[in-house]
Amino acid sequence: MPFFKPRENTAALVDFTRLPRHVAIIMDGNGRWAKKRGLPRTAGHAAGAENFRTIATYCKEIGLEYLTVYAFSTENWKRPSDEVAAIMGLLKKYLIEAIEKMERDRVKMCFFGDLSPLPEDLRLLCEQTREISRHYDGVQVNICLNYGGRDELIRAAKAFAMDCASGRADPNHLSEGQFSGYLFSRGVPDPDLVIRPSGELRISNFLLWQSAYSEFYYTDVLWPDFSKDELHRALAAYQRRQRRFGGVTNA
Ligand code: FPP
Repeated sequence: MPFFKPRENTAALVDFTRLPRHVAIIMDGNGRWAKKRGLPRTAGHAAGAENFRTIATYCKEIGLEYLTVYAFSTENWKRPSDEVAAIMGLLKKYLIEAIEKMERDRVKMCFFGDLSPLPEDLRLLCEQTREISRHYDGVQVNICLNYGGRDELIRAAKAFAMDCASGRADPNHLSEGQFSGYLFSRGVPDPDLVIRPSGELRISNFLLWQSAYSEFYYTDVLWPDFSKDELHRALAAYQRRQRRFGGVTNA
């Protein structure tokens, strides 16, 4: 007699009244996903972009406040030019579609990173989506594009130094909160949960300042296969953690 394993109801693992405010994801494993199927790496990125749509839509449905994804790092320019062009093309396609559906979806789109070296049409689309969605109240999706945590910190340090030189800031009174205001993520709460699929156990220059007290969740599942079930497992794991922020618990 065949044995059927009943499908696990992973949604039941999650308390949707106690979601983290901010989830950040390193969308890793697209290349390996493609290789396993004998496909070019660019097909893996296309599948990754499709999965991003699914997961971002679901985050909006469950009422998550902030979703941040690592789409292209300051180091990713080292990849073959056709792969870089394919990722830029996928981002462009996504933003064109996002603009069409923006009024309905009310997703607030933001970008972390220096957009100036991007192809001009992509840069303009980023600016347009940011501008149109500025006052939207759905989930805020932050796309990290030409983003690096160290680059972000150096830019912040330079901007702060300039403000000190011009008398607008005082180095003796610099607080963590004030310094956060110089980061791409200004105004956004730190991520509560950082997810990295694909089995790699690294932070890879992602949100170095902001992830100081984030909970981490790693899984071997490759990003294009990171389904809603996987997200439920990550959220459930987060809800089992005790966050101490350097303090002690009473338990
Ligand atoms: C890392 O996987 C993935 C990237 C560097 C690119 C991520 C880009 C997308 C998902 C497409 C565009 C995004 C949006 C938001 C529409 P990898 O290539 O390093 O995988 P590997 O480690 O298996 O080689």
